[in-house]
Amino acid sequence: MTRTVYVNGDYLPEGDAKVSIFDRGFLMADGVYEVTSVLDGKLIDFDGHVKRLWRSLAELEMTCPVSEAELLAMHRELVARNGIDQGMIYLQVTRGNPGDRSFVFPPADLPGTIVAFTQNIPNLADAPAAKTGFKVITIPDLRWSRVDIKTVQLLYPSMGKMAAKKAGVDDSWFTDEDGAVTEGTSNNAYIVKGNRIITRQLGNDILHGITRAAVLRFAEEAQFEVEERAFTAAEAQGADEAFSTAASIFVMPVVEVDGKPVGSGKPGPVAVRLREIYLDEMRKAAI
Ligand code: PDD
Repeated sequence: MTRTVYVNGDYLPEGDAKVSIFDRGFLMADGVYEVTSVLDGKLIDFDGHVKRLWRSLAELEMTCPVSEAELLAMHRELVARNGIDQGMIYLQVTRGNPGDRSFVFPPADLPGTIVAFTQNIPNLADAPAAKTGFKVITIPDLRWSRVDIKTVQLLYPSMGKMAAKKAGVDDSWFTDEDGAVTEGTSNNAYIVKGNRIITRQLGNDILHGITRAAVLRFAEEAQFEVEERAFTAAEAQGADEAFSTAASIFVMPVVEVDGKPVGSGKPGPVAVRLREIYLDEMRKAAI
């Protein structure tokens, strides 16, 4: 089946979808994005993703070409037209096409470019990796200083994924100048010590994960203690468990950091339980 994608108000076969070579997203990485997961044909935490999209746009003095209601209708339309039961919807908004290349922002009334497409992942909730867990390496965080804005500048995260691949593991966790973990290439990072779940505090140096917010809420409801602070790779290696969260992996156990097993070297009970709670609760609340 040919995928139907969305470009500036139109639903098109993917091969017919076009964006200008002058688009600021293409020339300057001047755009923001969101990834929303789909389970049972429904959107997971759509509200959270839209709120963060609005924040990312505002931080860059951009506006969304369509309303929140139109965004929701478009996400649902893409799910329906592509028959998605489990998968993801990628949405990107750029500063648009000024018709030439310039470092100066175009006038604010230039319409942005908005595109979206589905990714069909039939086993998203039952991903085999969740049963074995991720192995990660740490690498220096060389991204810019505003990674709280979800921009499409993903070259360094891609390089981080490739570094992991070359090392024969699943992901890289970035570390700051103090050796503390900021986050994963495309996910937030956590360790578990006893009843305590530790994850870096919000700031400009991590993305404010929508999954993170939900998981921390569920963790507190399940009587875990939540401590928002930085931790090092060495602390992770000595922790009982570790895990990562994102819309694309939900709660993913992390079983090895820089070649050393974390805890038993197998997915730990806290990560497994939080994954179950997250999937149950978010499925109930999906729209
Ligand atoms: N990435 N940190 C980074 C750097 C991310 O790129 C992501 C998400 C997260 C987790 O955010 P959320 O829980 O809202 O998905 C944290 C998406 C999934 C991606 O780029 O594919």
